[in-house]
Amino acid sequence: VKKSDVVKLILKNKYLGTPLKQTGVAFAPTNIALCKYWGKRDNDLNLPVTSSLSIALGKKGAKVNFQVINETHDLITLNGEVLDVASAFAQRLVTFLNLFRLKQGPYFSIIIESNIPIAAGLASSACGFASVVLALNQVFGWNLTVTELSILARLGSGSACRSLWQGFVEWNAGQRADGMDSYGQPLNFNWPDFCIGLLVMSEKEKHLSSREAMLRTVNHSALYSAWPAKVTTDLVKLKTALSEKDFTLLGETSESNAMSMHATMLSAWPPISYALPETVMIMQKIWKLRSEGLPLYFTQDAGPNLKLLFLEAHLLQVKAEFSHIEIVKPFAHI
Ligand code: PMV
Repeated sequence: VKKSDVVKLILKNKYLGTPLKQTGVAFAPTNIALCKYWGKRDNDLNLPVTSSLSIALGKKGAKVNFQVINETHDLITLNGEVLDVASAFAQRLVTFLNLFRLKQGPYFSIIIESNIPIAAGLASSACGFASVVLALNQVFGWNLTVTELSILARLGSGSACRSLWQGFVEWNAGQRADGMDSYGQPLNFNWPDFCIGLLVMSEKEKHLSSREAMLRTVNHSALYSAWPAKVTTDLVKLKTALSEKDFTLLGETSESNAMSMHATMLSAWPPISYALPETVMIMQKIWKLRSEGLPLYFTQDAGPNLKLLFLEAHLLQVKAEFSHIEIVKPFAHI
């Protein structure tokens, strides 16, 4: 099964490549996984080995503006800068857009505004591709369901299928070869005093993409075979934590899940580590604060930055300990 087959399955007889409208504007929040997606069962369709669970970051994400233009190529602007068509970012986006149009077009002016660092392990591709499919749905007038849009977003980047909702979202791995059962679903848990702290240690592009790192881990890590069972246990714990509002269980499970994911990478060959010295120092600081009684946990993705998890009751303490922290309250705007 190829990506183009999935696109045909979803669009059916809906027009491919014929814009209904001249413009499409959309926003999608980024999401942080509390139980990670790590490893693909299909590398082309971004089908995961396991299910995963995330929290969306409210107003943090990507806004896109699509405009049909009379050109033979796309014009992409990212945070005010026109991108070179040969850049990796532009190539990835154009390849994705080509799934939905014919050789003759349409081509677009695409203005992307992201309020998170690109490719620094803050899930910029997740909100990027989710906002792009939302905008395409408008331009082409597809009228797709949000589930269908989630499947299309997954074809751009796996974690993007979780970025179509606010709040907690579960991505069911599914079993089908065409991935029609592999998409995000919102979990109906509100947690108004839940806080996330972003600690950005580097806004530099990551040295190794999550795609490469996943492949190497699945193929060359002795510890990877233990990962699916770990996810199964952690998903049960996280859902219990959500339904019982048990923050300790949520924090412990999320941090342990992230550390286990990174352990599978450390045991790959060649080894993979996304941590900077500062990342490790801050982890140790968090462990110390926790031993002194502060209920503070972290998670880390394919980059050096840490995302802190805590409740509003401890906001001032957390701010006092970490001067450069950016606080997100995922449920504040809902
Ligand atoms: O969707 P991708 O290819 O950017 O992979 C995301 C991988 C992690 O961020 C490390 C985990 C996750 O579930 O988001």
